Amino acid sequence: MNQLSLPRHQRPSTFDQFLFGACYYPEHWDRSWIETDAALMAQAHVNVVRMAEFAWTLMEPRRGAFDFSLFKAAVQALKAQGIDTILCTPTATPPRWLTRDHPEWMRVDRNGVPFSHGTRQHCCTNHPEFRAESRRITRAMAEAFKDDAAVIGWQTDNEFYCHVDECYCESCQIAFRDWLRARYNQSVKELNHAWGTLFWSQQYDDFTEIEIPKKWRQPAPCNPSALLDYRRFLSDSITSFQREQVEILREVNPSWWITHNGVFYNIDYYTFAEDLDFLSVDVYPAFWGTKPECFIGASQLNERCRQATGTFLVPEQCGGPGGQLDFLQPTPEPGRMRLWAYQSIAHGADGMLHFRWRTCRYGAELHWHGILDHDNVPRRRFEEFTQEGAELKRIGSEILGTTKRVDVGISFGYEQDHAHAVMNFSRPQPDAQRELILAELMRRKIAVGYVNEADSYAGLKVLIVPSAIILDAVRAKKIEAFVAAGGVLLVTATTGQRDVNNHAIEQTLPGLLSEVLGITVEGFGKTEHRKMCLKGAGLELPADYYEIIKCVTAEPLAHWRFEANPGSEAAEGTVGLSCNVFGKGKAFYLGSFMNASSASVLLQMLCEQSGLETLGVADFNVCIIERRAEDRRLTFVLNNYPEMKLVEGLPLGRELITEKYCDGSLTVPAFGVAIVRS
Ligand code: GAL
Repeated sequence: MNQLSLPRHQRPSTFDQFLFGACYYPEHWDRSWIETDAALMAQAHVNVVRMAEFAWTLMEPRRGAFDFSLFKAAVQALKAQGIDTILCTPTATPPRWLTRDHPEWMRVDRNGVPFSHGTRQHCCTNHPEFRAESRRITRAMAEAFKDDAAVIGWQTDNEFYCHVDECYCESCQIAFRDWLRARYNQSVKELNHAWGTLFWSQQYDDFTEIEIPKKWRQPAPCNPSALLDYRRFLSDSITSFQREQVEILREVNPSWWITHNGVFYNIDYYTFAEDLDFLSVDVYPAFWGTKPECFIGASQLNERCRQATGTFLVPEQCGGPGGQLDFLQPTPEPGRMRLWAYQSIAHGADGMLHFRWRTCRYGAELHWHGILDHDNVPRRRFEEFTQEGAELKRIGSEILGTTKRVDVGISFGYEQDHAHAVMNFSRPQPDAQRELILAELMRRKIAVGYVNEADSYAGLKVLIVPSAIILDAVRAKKIEAFVAAGGVLLVTATTGQRDVNNHAIEQTLPGLLSEVLGITVEGFGKTEHRKMCLKGAGLELPADYYEIIKCVTAEPLAHWRFEANPGSEAAEGTVGLSCNVFGKGKAFYLGSFMNASSASVLLQMLCEQSGLETLGVADFNVCIIERRAEDRRLTFVLNNYPEMKLVEGLPLGRELITEKYCDGSLTVPAFGVAIVRS
């Protein structure tokens, strides 16, 4: 099948081997260590390292005086051991000679104060002269390594926006105005309309009068359309910063693949990744702790990456507990680092690099544990890493070419997150609802995943749209077509309330989805004294936000009922949940948000109504995830418990790690992994 005809979240990678390795910083030790490092890496089955993302000063100690010798030597010594290299553009850490001479290139914080030199991400990626520097170092590096076959790909910069996304310097102000001119066809009238500037007499006569919205400097709430546009600008401007690097790398050597390590907020990675071969994601699961249920934090992160480009790379997966100046994460128990690596692989990773080869002896991450400790003695983390390397060497070719099975798509949209961030009326974040749904369905062993609202829905059985407040006609039609063709849809409250300008729509809600849902929404409100009761099921689902549904062609499934203080607006018995048969499919509407208690009941109902298959049977925090290709299925079983677990209902086949036959049930060791190939 043509790769490009597949939904984006289902695209297989084009790697010719499963990548395994670590982030390597040869600049932190004496050059003489490189060869012994390379030999030890080879012993651990490393086939790739990532290098140079913070080494600009070393590669260009003075303007134009390039010195790539250290990295050339490292690339060569590693290649002698069969290890390839991913290089990075070093633009997150511009040298001091550059910032010293150009203080005006520094990012400016909310108080109008420029950042100072000494960490990373301190230069403004919208400053035209800093952009010229970024192109200059990118070209110099690219030219230096263009004939080096050991360099297989590139990472642009490092984790854009991981520390800071906003900047209030003069260049950003100018860039924002230019962005607005392009968006509104040079017409300030169009902008006035889009921003609803008639409200509070905000009309502009010229683009030069517009300032980046600064809500902390204004006495009353900001214009929500302007705030939304500012978020779009943040995303588009970093995309264009990256594009300049990508164009150079592609021009110098078209055989390189190019990626970037996300994922953070205020970047629409679905659009951003169009310039890349695939998106990557750095995953440090210990940020969510080490309890069995913590896997969900890493799962949603992997999904936020997968929805953009399908299979992906993990350039940084924890190599031990992380620590910066003022915190230290809990130590992952033996086996957990490997388990977490497989968790990302199950979600779609086709390459796994641990951060970092060796813990640095100085700097702010002195206790960010690498595979090796400060004393360079291989201990249990090295053994675990080597085990993972050996396994991936053996089974990697089975994994390559497969993509994650997704029966239930959870709609993912940046506009929804941005719209929520700028004007949320204290309602739950769409992202929190997505995570709740993901967790519930993963615990039920359903093949579930995030699907971008701009992506194709081909292959999905169920689509869940949690509070997609901004909806346009194209997306609404796609949702309608999905249901008409036999899909099951669940939409939650506030979906479709606003247009792309962040204005409330004129039509009766749910607006563009009224027909497919077969309802109108007659009103909404908030109360502390209302409970929703599912008709017939005898269940009571607490909710503090209600919408009053009028069924047009839909059937009522649940009604509002009051526990105390009955209000007059939503009379007892008003509909709160409905189901409409539309074409060959069904469309459910929940006039409230998913919360921890309602998600479980509603998703159970949805699973029953849509006849979803489970991938196996096991305790809650044992994950079962399937990756598949036309000729095979790989069922990943990930035991997040500190004790052995029995798993049943699995396919018959060969378990790849133990190489034993699986007759449908398995016991998986504490923090263990099994992969059944069928
Ligand atoms: C990542 C970053 C790395 C390192 C690591 C540990 O976010 O890309 O450079 O800082 O975290 O903190």
